[in-house]
Amino acid sequence: MRMRKKKWADSWLDEHTDYIFQDPSVNKGKWKELLSCDELHVEIGCGKGDYLINMSQMYADEGWIGIEKDRSAAATAARKALELEGYNTNNNRMVLADAADILDWFDEKEVDMIHLNFSDPWPKKHYHKRRLSSKDFLDKYKIILQDKGKIRMKTDNAQLFEDSLIYFLQNGFEVVEFSVDYRRNIHDEDAITEYESKFMAEGKPIYLICVEKVDMIQ
Ligand SMILES: C[S@@+](CC[C@H](N)C(=O)[O-])C[C@H]1O[C@@H](n2cnc3c(N)ncnc32)[C@H](O)[C@@H]1O
Repeated sequence: MRMRKKKWADSWLDEHTDYIFQDPSVNKGKWKELLSCDELHVEIGCGKGDYLINMSQMYADEGWIGIEKDRSAAATAARKALELEGYNTNNNRMVLADAADILDWFDEKEVDMIHLNFSDPWPKKHYHKRRLSSKDFLDKYKIILQDKGKIRMKTDNAQLFEDSLIYFLQNGFEVVEFSVDYRRNIHDEDAITEYESKFMAEGKPIYLICVEKVDMIQ
């Protein structure tokens, strides 16, 4: 569901471009230096930011970037982060833009892990190309992911899960972790997203898949 437009978002976003980038290409090839980390995580479609905020504090030695194209959601996430008492922004930033342009923002092999949390399922076949796990996106992720870099995806949507498994296997990734009811067991090592908490409250199973980039023979 689309978020209601926040009237304050536009001016707020323009005043905070040192935390939430609208032109992330200025940091291409320099993200690890900016965030003082050896391992870089990128969450695409970070929504209101709970996952990014919690994971960046749980894994403070790693770098975390949240990408969100919806201005109201992005502003809500960034404001939440910047106003949270004691929150350390040294290892995290956000990007307000469409991930279709991700190759302009990251160098080859700059990213260690991409997170796709409860991405829009786009059920109609005509729109499958918009899915963040579709071939066009995977071709881009393969370029920015380092050797053996990973994509970690969680969803409540069985059809998106099944289709994505096929996209991954057909496009140069192999499965390293897999669950059709991830939250059946406690996973304190992984933060719960806004959508995830709603689906868990409804008793829906959470699907998880983690895949690794396969070495290609040149
Ligand atoms: C269903 S919401 C899930 C939000 C959050 N990850 C969660 O689990 O609570 C999907 C989010 O992905 C964002 N999104 C979808 N396609 C995107 C794209 N191409 N680039 C950046 N953000 C995108 C949407 O704007 C939306 O906020």
